[in-house]
Amino acid sequence: MAIAAAAEQKVDATPMEGFDNEQLDKLLGLDKLGLKSVTLLALGYRDEANDWNVKLKKVRFSKEDFVIHLN
Ligand SMILES: Cc1cc2nc3c(=O)[nH]c(=O)nc-3n(C[C@H](O)[C@H](O)[C@H](O)COP(=O)(O)O)c2cc1C
Repeated sequence: MAIAAAAEQKVDATPMEGFDNEQLDKLLGLDKLGLKSVTLLALGYRDEANDWNVKLKKVRFSKEDFVIHLN
């Protein structure tokens, strides 16, 4: 939902799950609040002027390789 909402506002989003949850919880004091991190979502704007990556074509699976239709 957050990714879709960001995209609608033309804000770039990078979700991440590959991080040390326990360390982050300690760093942000989430453990003391009885909370646990599950995912991160970096939000921002692409650097059109300086990021050579920005104009590259997205690498994505085709719909045929990604979606299974169950009838
Ligand atoms: C739920 C979710 C978790 C993700 N976790 C990671 C991650 O831990 N590390 C990572 O390098 N990319 C992760 N990604 C992929 C990045 O968010 C991002 O899609 C990727 O860097 C490619 O960039 P692009 O989507 O602009 O092509 C994750 C994506 C999703 C949807």
